Amino acid sequence: MTAVKSICCIGAGYVGGPTCAVIAYKCHDIKVTIVDVNPARIAAWNSDKLPIYEPGLEDVVLARRGKNLFFSTNVDGAIQEADLIFVSVNTPTKKSGMGAGRAADLAYVESATRRIAQVATSSKIVVEKSTVPCRTAQSMRTILEANSTDKIHFDILSNPEFLAEGTAIDDLLKPDRVLIGALQTPEGIRAQQALADVYGHWVAKESILTTNLWSSELSKLAANAMLAQRISSVNALSAICEATGADVDEVAYACGRDSRLGSKFLKASVGFGGSCFQKDILNLVYLSEQLNLPEVAAYWHQVVIMNEYQKKRFVRNIIKTLFNTITNKKIAVLGFAFKKDTGDTRESAAITLIKDFIQESARVAIYDPKVDRQQIVMDLSEPGVVDTQQQVEKHVQICSSAYEAAKDADAVVLVTEWDEFRDDQLDYAKIYDGMHKPAFLFDGRLLVNAPKLRKMGFKVNVIGKTELAGKA
Ligand code: UDX
Ligand code: ADP
Repeated sequence: MTAVKSICCIGAGYVGGPTCAVIAYKCHDIKVTIVDVNPARIAAWNSDKLPIYEPGLEDVVLARRGKNLFFSTNVDGAIQEADLIFVSVNTPTKKSGMGAGRAADLAYVESATRRIAQVATSSKIVVEKSTVPCRTAQSMRTILEANSTDKIHFDILSNPEFLAEGTAIDDLLKPDRVLIGALQTPEGIRAQQALADVYGHWVAKESILTTNLWSSELSKLAANAMLAQRISSVNALSAICEATGADVDEVAYACGRDSRLGSKFLKASVGFGGSCFQKDILNLVYLSEQLNLPEVAAYWHQVVIMNEYQKKRFVRNIIKTLFNTITNKKIAVLGFAFKKDTGDTRESAAITLIKDFIQESARVAIYDPKVDRQQIVMDLSEPGVVDTQQQVEKHVQICSSAYEAAKDADAVVLVTEWDEFRDDQLDYAKIYDGMHKPAFLFDGRLLVNAPKLRKMGFKVNVIGKTELAGKA
């Protein structure tokens, strides 16, 4: 296998975009073309306002766009030109049919793979980059092999993405590890080495792990399931803290100081969101069920159940504190993205919370620094959320500042941990002045200094803490 000279990435989303932009940034000798069927998305990648917000992304794109980094809707042309193709399309959870609500919908992966098979005129390394259930590579291989000839050969690799949104560029520039799975045949191993050489432009050899295909696919689901499990564990403890007077930050700190546990991913919250955790765990649950391992399925499923419980518990607590009713009360929701430093709202806890507020006939005012109005309305109008856009418009006010959202509100609810909501950045005295009294503040992110805000007059409620716990 000669060195890779031309890469095509199918899917210009949160994974494919940043990943392949960084490859172009680090490998000037490789031409990278990112393609998508969505012309608006490609136009945005070619404009001044990129379609996704990610710290550092703009610098990387601007440095290489038009040089060795291209964004295009010409999927077929880019496939034909490339030696190596990343398949980085969306794999949402199936909404209907077999495995609905659990299994991944692989229609987009299949359609992209079929396209490669149809239009390729030379041999390709095809890299599975989207998060997919175990053995997806096998299906892709079957499609590709049915189309290989003496002259055209397809190798398939699994190269799961471990970047987290909000820190994607850093994660890509300094990855803990890069994982490349391949069939353990001479051709498979050669293809694995070719991709390892691409990452070798900037990643140390020891950090590039090579495994068989299935280990690689399962490792992605396993890593996400274990990360989410830590959050559900600490969230389960937060309920015990609230009932006993223990302080969840203190408990997490004490546990995290055990070097066997480590301190990361122990922050209690209103619940994890994002496009991966829930989807990947449900994939693992589905896989376990298919393998006739019901206890294993139930074990992992509990991580998702705990996450739903945490959101419900938070809402119940808000209603109880607001004298058992929020009907016609104004609730200011600060943050709509599933975490800070991203405009992504997929599976954001905010959506579940707001749905419940609206069902209780509250008036909801929302502010998020990076999520635009159209996205909020779209998320809330999804079937099963608020159902119609008119209803959303009736109950929801979308604001351009935290102060506007909190004006005349009965309660402020901190849902996303944006730095600008910290008590050293936002003027909470001003927020307090504008609110109805008593002014309630619910911190779902352990973000603010509650004693300080209590002194201002706020009635503060923090996940995993009680006022009695002293520091709450
Ligand atoms: C995750 C994985 O971290 C990443 O490796 C994988 O490639 C994709 O899925 P992402 O979903 O982008 O990344 O964000 P992450 O930082 O993992 O956060 C997920 C959710 O967990 C967010 O809602 C976040 O707020 C929440 N979280 C995270 C907590 O509630 N507490 C924590 O301690 C950490
Ligand atoms: P992720 O977070 O996994 O990157 P996104 O939904 O952000 O997922 O991005 C996936 C992208 O893949 C979308 O922009 C979508 O238009 C694109 N896509 C899906 N199927 C195809 C296809 N067959 N060919 C090209 N692009 C595709």
